[in-house]
Amino acid sequence: MTPTHAQTEGQPGRTLYPHVFAPISLGPVEIRNRIYMPPHGVPLEVGVPGYGPNGMPAAELAYYYAERAAGGVGLIFHSMLVAPFAAWLGTPSSSPILPQALPSYARVAEAVHASGGAIMGQIWYHPGLTHLWEQGGPQAPQLSPSATQSFNMPSTRYALRAEDLHHIVDVHRDAARNLLVCGYDGVELHVSHGMLLEAFLSPYFNRRTDDYGGSLANRSRLILEVLEAVKEVTQGGLATGMRFTIDQMLPGGWSEEGGQEILHYLSRTGLLDFIDLDIAVEPEQHHLAIPPFSRAGCTMPNAWRVHAKPAAMCRCWRHRAGSPQSQKPRIFWHVASRM
Ligand SMILES: Cc1cc2nc3c(=O)[nH]c(=O)nc-3n(C[C@H](O)[C@H](O)[C@H](O)COP(=O)(O)O)c2cc1C
Repeated sequence: MTPTHAQTEGQPGRTLYPHVFAPISLGPVEIRNRIYMPPHGVPLEVGVPGYGPNGMPAAELAYYYAERAAGGVGLIFHSMLVAPFAAWLGTPSSSPILPQALPSYARVAEAVHASGGAIMGQIWYHPGLTHLWEQGGPQAPQLSPSATQSFNMPSTRYALRAEDLHHIVDVHRDAARNLLVCGYDGVELHVSHGMLLEAFLSPYFNRRTDDYGGSLANRSRLILEVLEAVKEVTQGGLATGMRFTIDQMLPGGWSEEGGQEILHYLSRTGLLDFIDLDIAVEPEQHHLAIPPFSRAGCTMPNAWRVHAKPAAMCRCWRHRAGSPQSQKPRIFWHVASRM
């Protein structure tokens, strides 16, 4: 038999790092090892006719991900937009909320599985998504928990009304249902990088006085409604987790201690199978965790600490010692300032 890239029998790394190459269960899914490829926008998209910039995976994207699985990656995250009210005018991103796009998603999942990997969809709505009110018209405001000033985009913010929020829940539900139909293994809410769900959770962005603002329970409400909707529609068929900023590194946001408190609160609901930790809100996230994005402004001491760590450490899931596996989510550190 011809060996594949992913075969590790007889390799020294397998003996040196037995846990890295051991399978792990995340919710209903068993993953063959603990090497994961984090979500990232890949401009291999094609437009969906009649839906403007909304994209779907191009045929090449299936090969792009399948090749990573063939190379030995156990779990791949596919970053994808769920845009409830408007399409993004920036870099295209695929969206699983359109029925016309589903065959292309199924092709991605099939190709990754054929190469022995697992694939999950990271679903997000970025408040910084820019769109126009109409063709050639003025720029519409960003969707936000509160009408605060935006520090990373030159546009105003629209405070979503409580009655708007069911749209947010609906698109996440639709995306999860469609990903299950397409054969994906899991879904990850993007509660990081300044995405809408993170903004609701953050006291810096969320100044609301209704049921979605104030206490931690209120600021978590939208995330929990989304998780419940996802769980309801997938009926245990998808691993469900979130990417989470453990420290916002933002005055008025949460610190690492605050992040731990939030994690304890959300974990206790039993709605999360895993948590993928990240750090800092964009644009600081770019300086710290993705130095090539903005090398000139890179916070070198922190960037050095992140990148000096062995790759295996950055890519390993850590299971919290002493916690019953069925109740506590798996936590894996992707980038952590204190490693
Ligand atoms: C071009 C690009 C696009 C990215 N898109 C996403 C994304 O959609 N979602 C996300 O959670 N992280 C995204 N990231 C961050 C990566 O997941 C990862 O955290 C970051 O690149 C640091 O890991 P690395 O040192 O292995 O590159 C992106 C990074 C890059 C470079």
